[in-house]
Amino acid sequence: MRKTILLSLVVLVVSAMALTACGGGASDGPVVGDVAKGEELYNRATLGSKSAEGCVACHNMDASEGDESDAPYTAGSATRAEGAVPGLSAEEYILESIVNPDAYVVEGFNAGDMYQTWGEDLSEQELADIVAYLLTVK
Ligand code: HEC
Repeated sequence: MRKTILLSLVVLVVSAMALTACGGGASDGPVVGDVAKGEELYNRATLGSKSAEGCVACHNMDASEGDESDAPYTAGSATRAEGAVPGLSAEEYILESIVNPDAYVVEGFNAGDMYQTWGEDLSEQELADIVAYLLTVK
């Protein structure tokens, strides 16, 4: 009798663990960015849990959209990201530029100008999507 209770307990605990591992869609696997979704997010007027001004409020794609007075052009992001900071891959550099913008400040621009809390306002998935998109903008 006791053995059965113990056994059912073990089964319960194991299934609960399996449920948490698979449930909610937030699995432990790496988050894979979606380029199309990232482009859509990047071009929104407002973005994130605090509806802050979106990326394109400051970033123009290139000279055809305006100047670089507020932020570096989006065009060439992936190319510049490659080797911008020794030790960081292009992907890591772009992510860092978004979640911790003052860690490396692009020459000719000021620290503190970029919105500082995207890392909290955007989900891991949204960040991965935006990074995936910017990696396609060479
Ligand atoms: C309030 C204006 C502003 C907004 C909004 C903004 N940025 Fe920026 N961004 C800047 C400025 C200024 C810089 C250059 C200074 C620096 O390096 O932090 C920059 C730099 C960057 C860089 C590095 C560019 C390079 O050439 O190395 C990336 C990548 C970037 N931003 C992505 C984003 C993304 C993605 C968003 C939206 C989630 C965003 N930015 C929203 C102002 C802004």
